[in-house]
Amino acid sequence: MATAVKKRPRISSAAGRRPSRKEVLERKKAIDELIRKAIAVKDHLVQFPAFHKFQGNGLSVYLESGHGDQLTLPVNMEEPYGPEWPSEEKVKRQEMVAPEARYIFIKQYSNGFTTECSMNQDAGVEHMHTPCNEGHLVGFVHYRFVLEEELPVVYVYELQMEPSAQGKGLGKFLMQLIEQIACKNQMGAVMLTVQKANTQAMAFYTKLRYVISSTSPSRVDPQIGLEKSYEILCKTFDCEAKSKLEDGDEEL
Ligand SMILES: CC(C)(COP(=O)(O)OP(=O)(O)OC[C@H]1O[C@@H](n2cnc3c(N)ncnc32)[C@H](O)[C@@H]1OP(=O)(O)O)[C@@H](O)C(=O)NCCC(=O)NCCS
Repeated sequence: MATAVKKRPRISSAAGRRPSRKEVLERKKAIDELIRKAIAVKDHLVQFPAFHKFQGNGLSVYLESGHGDQLTLPVNMEEPYGPEWPSEEKVKRQEMVAPEARYIFIKQYSNGFTTECSMNQDAGVEHMHTPCNEGHLVGFVHYRFVLEEELPVVYVYELQMEPSAQGKGLGKFLMQLIEQIACKNQMGAVMLTVQKANTQAMAFYTKLRYVISSTSPSRVDPQIGLEKSYEILCKTFDCEAKSKLEDGDEEL
């Protein structure tokens, strides 16, 4: 999907000179401002009408922005965490309701659209994902705008589809939306953490062309990587992010 990627402020590395303290501070300020602006957007989904609903593969669903307090903890998370789950569970619950946590929910129409709703589909963005009956949740993504290696990125904290909705293109659809949100807000990459034991998720992200980040323990130090149960994956959108998050260059 083509996205117009705006240029992020960066320091000129002409002649390979080190940036001055003033330049470093200005850049930091500009990046903080990008994150502040992205967080200030109330509903990112509104800007992407093509992602307000998904029909196909026997599914008819709509997307909706929301908060983590609307969720109960997904039931199928324990398995990939193994013995680390009891401590992880507490962390996950705190993460879910943190104010900086952004959510997009996928809900299934209980009775499909009524005629009135069908007629409203062209009436404007605010009506496009209005359900006739409150649908039931079949999946969600939890994401945040954060700094990684001093770069602004979208970090996907959680992506979950209920078993009956898996393998129907919804996970890919949500990740495409997240990538669009990242680009629109001038973030350098989408990043996420995945448990090594979750081979299904690993295969999914690999299919979506995510790669193991140079910040992942296995790449920072293979020995430490062996002791860790997770990998950090990324998809980058510009040279600077590619260099720092994929290639692991210290300096540009
Ligand atoms: C992992 C998960 C989010 C994927 O979402 P999904 O809706 O089932 O995946 P999709 O149907 O959108 O698949 C997108 C692509 O990935 C591929 N894919 C998905 N799962 C795969 C697997 N286990 N092995 C190989 N390819 C896979 C699909 O074939 C598809 O390829 P295509 O684009 O060529 O058609 C979903 O299965 C899920 O919620 N799993 C349980 C929770 C979880 O593990 N979340 C991730 C935590 S990091």
